[in-house]
Amino acid sequence: MPFTKLATQVKSPPPFPPLRFSYSNTFIILVILILQSLKMVKTRLPSDRQIQALFPIALVSILILGVARVVVDHLRSHHGSLAKVFFQRRAGPRVFITEGDRIKDGCNVFEGTWVSDNASYPLYREESCPYLVKQVTCLKNGRPDSLYQNWRWQPSGCNLPRFDPLMMLKMLRGKRLMFVGDSIHRAQFDSLVCLLQTSIPRGKKALLRIPPRKIFKIEDYGISIEYYWAPFIVESISDHATNHTVHKRMVRLDSVANHSKYWEGVDVLVFESYVWWMYKPVINASYGTSFNVRVYNVTTAYRLALETWANWLEANINPLTQKVFFMSMSPTHLWSWEWRPGSDENCFNEMHPIQGPYWGTGSNLEIMEILHSVLKGLKINVTLLNITQLSEYRKDAHTSVFTERKGKLLTKEEKADPKRFADCIHWCLPGVPDAWNEILYAYMLKDYQNTP
Ligand SMILES: *[C@@H]1O[C@H](CO)[C@@H](O)[C@H](O)[C@H]1NC(C)=O
Ligand SMILES: *[C@@H]1O[C@H](CO)[C@@H](O)[C@H](O)[C@H]1NC(C)=O
Ligand SMILES: *[C@@H]1O[C@H](CO)[C@@H](O)[C@H](O)[C@H]1NC(C)=O
Ligand SMILES: *[C@@H]1O[C@H](CO)[C@@H](O)[C@H](O)[C@H]1NC(C)=O
Ligand SMILES: *[C@@H]1O[C@H](CO)[C@@H](O)[C@H](O)[C@H]1NC(C)=O
Ligand SMILES: *[C@@H]1O[C@H](CO)[C@@H](O)[C@H](O)[C@H]1NC(C)=O
Ligand SMILES: *[C@@H]1O[C@H](CO)[C@@H](O)[C@H](O)[C@H]1NC(C)=O
Repeated sequence: MPFTKLATQVKSPPPFPPLRFSYSNTFIILVILILQSLKMVKTRLPSDRQIQALFPIALVSILILGVARVVVDHLRSHHGSLAKVFFQRRAGPRVFITEGDRIKDGCNVFEGTWVSDNASYPLYREESCPYLVKQVTCLKNGRPDSLYQNWRWQPSGCNLPRFDPLMMLKMLRGKRLMFVGDSIHRAQFDSLVCLLQTSIPRGKKALLRIPPRKIFKIEDYGISIEYYWAPFIVESISDHATNHTVHKRMVRLDSVANHSKYWEGVDVLVFESYVWWMYKPVINASYGTSFNVRVYNVTTAYRLALETWANWLEANINPLTQKVFFMSMSPTHLWSWEWRPGSDENCFNEMHPIQGPYWGTGSNLEIMEILHSVLKGLKINVTLLNITQLSEYRKDAHTSVFTERKGKLLTKEEKADPKRFADCIHWCLPGVPDAWNEILYAYMLKDYQNTP
């Protein structure tokens, strides 16, 4: 149990006491133990700072969600992982360096720093992209500083190729690219649409909202860029794209069928799923038969879900014609004491990236390890876009109070109460998701150049 061990390094107690039961026990024993641990949670609540800090977020999500009218708009409640772990340098995936137009092996693009670059960034402007949803247009929503838009991700050992919309269009000609995941992932879809759309003349592009999908069609190139709502990847009771349960969660760990029929034959698939799992340390789930619902450790459930997903990939993906990516977890910045010891706020009013090393407790390393082992065991290649560390630095780039709730901008009163109302999970656009797409672009470019 690496997390319990690591948790001893944290000053304040972990948000939830470690659960000590084993699933090899009988169901009854399991239930008794869970009831006990829930009791422990309860008794510890008042003295636990992290739980208190977490509460406003839970409140915000109650308020934001359960709303039917906003198409696919979701904010996630969240609990931190049990460990505070600093960024460790390790041999990352070898990717490439650019030399002019050539891309060669040799560099981990996920290791580096954010560099202030007022000349080239942002790559597009809020007002130049008509497809942006109100949730992410922070400047328009009243954010006073725009510095968060002027940062370029600079890998330590190489340069990323500059995002070239025309090159991306060329690579995607006649193809479908689909993002599958939750609302954080949807912002990456929105970002890619904005990065590309300026290069496409009016009348030759269209954004269709057909829940659970959003589809951006680029006529002359025969390209379809899509987003598909599946917050757990596997089936769940939260799958209705516009009217889903939030606090009640139940996942079907053994089935993706309802979703995967939409994924079949897609040329480039980019998956992501994390924050919806992290609501509590346990989750109701079924495996085998949908009537047999029981409580699973989130880590156990996450592994089973990814294995179900992996089985689908192996049976359905043709590695010669299709390409699959998986995005690692997008970090949250809920507790300012993690980067500024002694403070007691959140991401609100943060104007600069963290100067590393930094790894927040919200990014669960046990989940990361599960991801690692499931991807390693796959018979086909899935490229991990390990964006967690680079995004960890960006405490300044969340939507905070400059966002919407129930389809409306926060009121003056709500904005004045960032401790309760700041959203430190989602990101402003232009912003961090653009960097994720620059990296996705770099990988696709490398693949394209290496294809005879
Ligand atoms: C349940 O999760 C906790 C926290 O992530 C972990 O320490 C523990 O080992 C897990 N238990 C089981 C039985 O998987
Ligand atoms: C970019 O602009 C900001 C604000 O105007 C300034 O503080 C910063 O130093 C500039 N960065 C560079 C590299 O010029
Ligand atoms: C999957 O689809 C079937 C048929 O539409 C539906 O009855 C079932 O409830 C869906 N499963 C989930 C978990 O939503
Ligand atoms: C949303 O779902 C709930 C429960 O499934 C239902 O009672 C409600 O009528 C739905 N709302 C809309 C607008 O469809
Ligand atoms: C599991 O479902 C039961 C029954 O609906 C509910 O009382 C319990 O709170 C749920 N547990 C979790 C961890 O969501
Ligand atoms: C992703 O990168 C972080 C550090 O940046 C590392 O700790 C983690 O193991 C990596 N994840 C995988 C699955 O390789
Ligand atoms: C996966 O990718 C590596 C490097 O690009 C390649 O050597 C290997 O053959 C690929 N494996 C499969 C199963 O396609």
